[in-house]
This record gives sequence, structure tokens and C-alpha cells, in this order.
Amino acid sequence: MRVAGVVRVPGDKSISHRALVLGALGDGRSRVRGVLRSLDVHSTAGVLRALGVALPPLADDMVIDGVGLRGLQPPGANLDCGNSGTTARLLAGVVAASPLSARFVGDESLSARPMGRVARPLTEMGARFDFERPGEGLPMTVHGARLRGLTWRAETASAQVKSAILLAGLVADVPVEVHEPVATRDHTERMLVARGVDVRAEAGAVTLIPRARLHAADQAVPGDPSSAAFFAALAALSDAGELALDDVCINPSRVGAFRVLRRMGARLSYEGTRTDGGEEVARVVVAPGSLRGTEIGGAEVPSLIDELPILACVAACAEGESRVTGANELRVKESDRIRAIVENLRAVGAEAEELEDGFVVRGTGRRPFSGRVTTHGDHRIAMAFGVLGAIPGSAIDIDDRSCAAVSFPTFWEELTRVAV
Ligand code: S3P
Repeated sequence: MRVAGVVRVPGDKSISHRALVLGALGDGRSRVRGVLRSLDVHSTAGVLRALGVALPPLADDMVIDGVGLRGLQPPGANLDCGNSGTTARLLAGVVAASPLSARFVGDESLSARPMGRVARPLTEMGARFDFERPGEGLPMTVHGARLRGLTWRAETASAQVKSAILLAGLVADVPVEVHEPVATRDHTERMLVARGVDVRAEAGAVTLIPRARLHAADQAVPGDPSSAAFFAALAALSDAGELALDDVCINPSRVGAFRVLRRMGARLSYEGTRTDGGEEVARVVVAPGSLRGTEIGGAEVPSLIDELPILACVAACAEGESRVTGANELRVKESDRIRAIVENLRAVGAEAEELEDGFVVRGTGRRPFSGRVTTHGDHRIAMAFGVLGAIPGSAIDIDDRSCAAVSFPTFWEELTRVAV
């Protein structure tokens, strides 16, 4: 297979959610350019509209008239978060600090994901959470209250939990401090600072000192490194050519997969690095190399947590063993990704094994692969095996390709365009 051309991956999902939420809570008019128009971001937009924000339809260039930190209205219906954990957890923080109650619902996958991790700190701040089923999943009703400040030592590394606490502190006008076991993506912090809030990160802790108001700000949303990773992997797996991925966010807390691809033998470089919208952005250029197995674990994991499905597929094509540990969080993503990765690699003829907190893939350098993939409705499983299926001679049948629309609606068109 040969790759050629330029891909402009859609806007970053994490930054898109945050741009809408902070735009809604800001004083006055914000402009957002390059927002991701995917199902997950539509979920955040829908929830904000249900809370009384007059958010226009998602568009490449959109204007948001913020209602201010205390301008949200009690919703007349459930807050439907669809498949989106970021929507549910970030907005739980906002609602917990607002004088209203709201019932959060989601699809089957989201309803099975843990919400206790946001409920516990927000309850300690003074909010009340009602769960309808054992296991602390959705549906949940959040009763907002006058919150008090909090110092929270998080057990799991989660940017969503950190962000929920920061947003609760912001809206409630109380100081909060979050200690993380391992540093996670810092988009919320960067975006709050750009809007005039005093947020500091020091020695494993993030502190927010409230400012009673949030300035409106313009936001350019860079390309999503998690979406770019699929095309970086495709280029790494090809026989010839080179792929350029334009305007990708290369925030250090997000680019672990690029580092790993390089470590495995791919040729990957950044060109034209610049700062835009408070984030480092570059053209990522990737060409094939001879790939070998690697070990992934420890502090590196949050920087590539969403890329482990595609890295597992690359590992299946590399020479030698790859081992991923310290990635228990994969068990509670859109699917149990440890199980989904291993079962599907085996289903297409690769050798893989589950660990409690990760997996082992035994690559032989052999390809292509053939078989039937069960996505469990998980967008990143569908796209990872889609890349494996693009290798000539593969016959990979994916049960649900449409779920890619959760984060990357144009994925399949782009894939057929650049793999020639
Ligand atoms: C996200 C944080 C990560 C990531 C998710 C998006 C965010 O989840 O997996 O896709 O935007 O904050 P956790 O916070 O649960 O680790």
C-alpha cells in the first residue's frame, strides 16, 4: 500500500466540548472556529441548549452569546448526553454549582460508564446526586447547590473529573485544588487562563482561584491528534509514500501515540510548529519504517489513552512483542477496550492476550489480516480495525462502521482517499 496526500483531520473533540461550555458560560460573545461537528459535540450543544443557552447550529465559524456563570436555566427535559462521557462529566460539574436540578441520560454504552468519580468530589463540595440504578451510572439527577471549596486527591487519572471539579469551582466562585496521580490533558486549564481565570499547575496539582466572571474569548480549534493517530498509523503501516496531517494539536499531554509510533520505527516529524488558540499546532508528516514491538505504561498512558486501539493494531503488524500496562481505564471507555482490542485482534488472526490492566500483542511482521470485527458501537475500535482493513489483501468485516461519526464523521471517505 502507498499513501499520499494531505489530511486535515476534524477539530479536536476535547477542545470543542470545552469551547462550547466556556462560550456558554462566558460574559458576552465568543467566536469558535473549526469546532468538531460530530455526534459527541452535538450532545454537548444539545445539553447547553436544554439549559437555556441560545447556541446556534454547530458550524465551522460560529458565534456563542454567553449567559454568564449564573445564567443557566432549569431544563424542561432530560439532558441527553448520547455516547459522550465528556458531556456528562463536565456538565455535571457545571450543574452541581448552579441553582437547578437536572437528570442526565445517555445511550447504553454511556449508561454503563462510572459517574461516581464525578459524584464523589461534587458531593463533597455540597451538591446532591441521585442514581437510579446500582453502579453509579446514568441516569443520574444532579441537584445543584451553593458549593464549598475542595482539595481533591483523585485516585484515577481523568481529565474529565479534573475538569468537572474546576468548572464547579468556577461557577460556584470557590477555590478548588485537584491532585492527579498522573498528569492528564490540560485543555481546560489553558482555556480558563485564556479567559481570565487564575489556574495554576504545580507539583502534580491544579489550583483554581475563582474570579466571579469568565471573559468571552475567541477560540480556534486545532485538528484532533486522536483522529490524526489513525492516519499516522496508516502511513506507518504502508509500504511507500508519505502522509501530511495538517494543523494537528501537538499538546504534549496528547501526543503519546506519535512518540510511540516513532519508537516503533515509523518516520514521524513535526513541521511548521506554531501556537494557535493557546495550543501548539503543527503539520505531522509520517512515512513508513520497519516496525518493532514496544512497551507502554506508567505516566505515558494518559497521553495516548484513546489511541491504544490503533496502537494495538500497529503492534499486530510489527516484529516482536508489545506490552501495555497501567491502562485499567480502558475497561470503562465507550466499550471495555482491553477486551474489545484483544478479542478483535484474535478474530482477525493476530496473537493477543488480555492483562488485567492492559494487553500483550505478539507481532510477527506478518499481514494482512482477515475476519469479523465486533465494535460494540465503539468509534475508536471501528476506526482502528478500519486502518488494518486498508492493508491490501485484508478482508476485515466491521459490524458497525457508522459509529465513527461519534468523533470523526468523514473517517471512511478520508481513508479511501489517501490509501492508494
Ligand atoms: C477526555 C478525557 C479522557 C479521554 C476522553 C476525552 C476529555 O477521558 O479518554 O476521550 O475531553 O477530557 P478520562 O477523563 O475519563 O480519562
